[in-house]
Amino acid sequence: MTADHHTTVDHPAVTAGPGTAAAPAGAEGELGQGRAWAQAGRLGRAAAVAHPNIALIKYWGKRDEDLVLPAADSLSLTLDVFATTTRVRLAPGAAGDRVLLNGAPAAEPARARVVAFLDLVRSLTGRQAPAVVDSRNTVPTGAGLASSASGFAALAVAAAAAYGLSTGARGLSRLARRGSGSACRSLFGGFAQWHAAAHTSGAAADLASYAEPVPVAAALDVALVIVVVDAGPKAVSSRAAMRRTVATSPLYRPWVDSSGQDLRQMRAALAGGDLAAVGEIAERNALGMHATMLAARPAVRYLAPASLTALDVVLRLRRDGVAAYATMDAGPNVKVLCAGHQAHLVEAAVRQAVPGASVLVARPGPGARLARGDGG
Ligand code: DP6
Repeated sequence: MTADHHTTVDHPAVTAGPGTAAAPAGAEGELGQGRAWAQAGRLGRAAAVAHPNIALIKYWGKRDEDLVLPAADSLSLTLDVFATTTRVRLAPGAAGDRVLLNGAPAAEPARARVVAFLDLVRSLTGRQAPAVVDSRNTVPTGAGLASSASGFAALAVAAAAAYGLSTGARGLSRLARRGSGSACRSLFGGFAQWHAAAHTSGAAADLASYAEPVPVAAALDVALVIVVVDAGPKAVSSRAAMRRTVATSPLYRPWVDSSGQDLRQMRAALAGGDLAAVGEIAERNALGMHATMLAARPAVRYLAPASLTALDVVLRLRRDGVAAYATMDAGPNVKVLCAGHQAHLVEAAVRQAVPGASVLVARPGPGARLARGDGG
């Protein structure tokens, strides 16, 4: 990839609050992060950790494939489970990049995506050295459990630090976006909104499209019960599925329009600490996204019989007075949003009704950050 004049990462960074520890420099980062960042650049190696996020208002469809600009804003919750740890080490004498995923050489197209991302970082820093990337997921890769979000968020932080890129949390969010759209939200802990900047295009849109933390009522106590009905890789990648949906689904534009309304109402519900409203809006937004895919030609169907069984449990819990709401991504697994203090109830109900599933409780997690150790 040649130098990309569209990408601007040196933009005044957001002030990172607790749990949003990605920012490398002094006032905008966590204590000590600035020195660790500078040292990583000097040594040409860094390690970073990031967690997946689950969207409550979904990102589904790009308006610019090259810059990874979405059609609409999205809003997510970063989790405290399934972390990815990525080490990047510059290897000046090597013939090319080496990419390891969970200890084994990465297969295509994952390898090419990482190399393209490193090319982007190289074009931004002027440092041309190849690198060794060693990425370890604690989440099944490619199963609709947001491995690309944690993966590219960790890679963005580790590669930017190792190549000595000087930027803040907002710049890192923009950079992560270029690897995988949803990754830009994993730079931040808790709830984050990714701005589509849909009124702009090209360089201006690149600059304006990043995620940032969303204010939430302190009393809001949430958990996400993750129902893994199938941990295998999905048949159609989310990238291909969203492309097909945008190109062929007659339901796509109406969903994008209603999603804008969902987002405004979601922000109000989060600010007011209204869990029932948060859940209702998230569930209808996810079902709408799946409806757009079902209407694509040919249809994209990620939901399996066990997914529908889990959705039935959620309805039953609600009838019994438990605030539980479902959301699903590009895969058959179901995530159930509920109050933190009722997560054990939801977990037990799902375990009983979907015996083949593995079930775990996730809670709000931290933003991407440099990890201890120098990645050497
Ligand atoms: C259904 O971020 O994986 O999880 O930008 O093409 O890499 P690319 O797509 P990706 O899509 C995630 C889609 C989703 C919804 C969401 O996370 O908002």
